[in-house]
Amino acid sequence: MNEQADLKNSEPEGRTVDHSKVVMSQVIMPVHTGPGGVYVHGGEIIKLMDTAAGLAALRHAHHPVVTLRVEGINFHHPIRVGNYVTVRAKLTYASRFSMEIQVEVFTEDVRKEKEWKALTAYFVFVALDSNAQPQRVPPLIITSDEERRSFESGESRHTTCRIDEHTRTLCALD
Ligand SMILES: CC(C)(COP(=O)(O)OP(=O)(O)OC[C@H]1O[C@@H](n2cnc3c(N)ncnc32)[C@H](O)[C@@H]1OP(=O)(O)O)[C@@H](O)C(=O)NCCC(=O)NCCS
Repeated sequence: MNEQADLKNSEPEGRTVDHSKVVMSQVIMPVHTGPGGVYVHGGEIIKLMDTAAGLAALRHAHHPVVTLRVEGINFHHPIRVGNYVTVRAKLTYASRFSMEIQVEVFTEDVRKEKEWKALTAYFVFVALDSNAQPQRVPPLIITSDEERRSFESGESRHTTCRIDEHTRTLCALD
């Protein structure tokens, strides 16, 4: 094995969950709404989630990353024009090449001073080298019981959601 292959396959130093955390906020404007002009277009929010998850993955991997899979997007509460939206992303699980990122979206009605959890999802990203081949990512350092539980759930999804196309579509999420 040559020196470059050694470097690609060697395990990088671990990074904590906190190291990966990303928070992004924006106000929903009319341009972000669907045809009805009142509620946000779902694709706009999913794009924001993908961006936040990608940034969390990049923070962890320090290599270019691509979205590999999105699991369990759930819309819990409608987001209206004028709402102040905050997206929170953090790593829950890291394997050799792939990373699972939990993304939560909160929406605030500023006038009413009320906030709701609006969306949740898990994004899986893979780091790629300059030849677009999977690149090793640092192990995820766990520092609390909650992080341990999330890691174990992520590990279980990593296993059960990948058996085959059929099983993957039935993947159960928390
Ligand atoms: C990422 C890509 C190179 C992986 O190719 P591949 O041949 O499946 O690679 P491997 O089988 O070696 O798997 C690489 C990693 O991806 C994981 N993986 C592959 N398919 C997966 C799936 N459907 N779900 C979850 N993880 C998956 C593997 O488990 C492995 O990670 P691990 O070793 O940490 O477990 C390829 O799928 C790809 O290029 N996809 C397109 C990505 C993209 O363009 N995204 C949108 C633009 S950002």
